[in-house]
Amino acid sequence: MSEAIIEIEQVVFSYVREEGGENIPALDGVDLEILEGSFVAVIGPNGSGKSTLAKCFNALLLPEKGRVRVRGMDTGDDERVWDIRKTVGMVFQNPDNQLVSSIVEDDVAFGPENLGVEPAEIRERVDAALRSVDMYEHRKKGPHLLSGGQKQRIAIAGVLAMESECIVLDEPTAMLDPSGRREVMEIIRRLHARGKTIVLITHFMEEAAQADRIVVMEKGRIAFDGTPGELFTHSGDLQDLDMPFAVQLAARLRKRGIDVPKDAISEMDLVEFLCASK
Ligand SMILES: Nc1ncnc2c1ncn2[C@@H]1O[C@H](COP(=O)(O)OP(=O)(O)OP(=O)(O)O)[C@@H](O)[C@H]1O
Ligand SMILES: [Mg+2]
Repeated sequence: MSEAIIEIEQVVFSYVREEGGENIPALDGVDLEILEGSFVAVIGPNGSGKSTLAKCFNALLLPEKGRVRVRGMDTGDDERVWDIRKTVGMVFQNPDNQLVSSIVEDDVAFGPENLGVEPAEIRERVDAALRSVDMYEHRKKGPHLLSGGQKQRIAIAGVLAMESECIVLDEPTAMLDPSGRREVMEIIRRLHARGKTIVLITHFMEEAAQADRIVVMEKGRIAFDGTPGELFTHSGDLQDLDMPFAVQLAARLRKRGIDVPKDAISEMDLVEFLCASK
């Protein structure tokens, strides 16, 4: 059994309205464990609490009730905040808001510098991180010369250089074109294959389908938690989900009497099944 990196227990959170009046509820009793080495996608409608939940993972927000532990460290413990942020690295949606330096490699070095890592080790980590996201050859460039997908890969390299065990990505592909999206997903899959724990918040079902577990948020609660196969064959009590193309096609084929297996959720699964059947 894998161990949990992140443990969320009965977490409640609401935003305080500055102009007074009632608080805005965002999380309403969330229980969740993120296991070491897993790839979890978090989906759900706008305002369902996905980003708020992600910010609770590394003490950017502290729960009003309940608790969040990262490798056993309580996010409310002031003395552990840096250890927690080092363990769980975050990548956000807007590629332009995340890069702080005028040279790519300085940007990737920023995290480990703040952690007080020795310069020689920083050099090694930065080079390794840039290679992991296929951006080593661009290390001397200014971030403004990069595409959105490349910028997000640099943001991911920044997290890798801190040696974070878990990477939480909040809609990292939302502002990218299709090729940028593919690049970033390719890197995410690669990091997962190498053992990193991944939490990917996304609006794209095709991306969520690549995870080994999908959590669906609805109104500050978890409405579903299971494998992609289970979600895509789940009866319709979840709000309308925009199913991946392969899942829609499989459903139509079933209506025509073709007995497509329930775990066929990608184009490749369908191709294999259809080619194998007579
Ligand atoms: N900084 C904030 N101040 C006040 N209310 C907020 C703030 N951020 C989020 N909210 C509210 O909290 C609730 C949950 O928002 P959250 O951003 O976590 O949802 P989300 O699932 O990430 O949505 P989206 O898909 O649009 O990114 C919503 O009602 C939202 O309006
Ligand atoms: Mg969000």
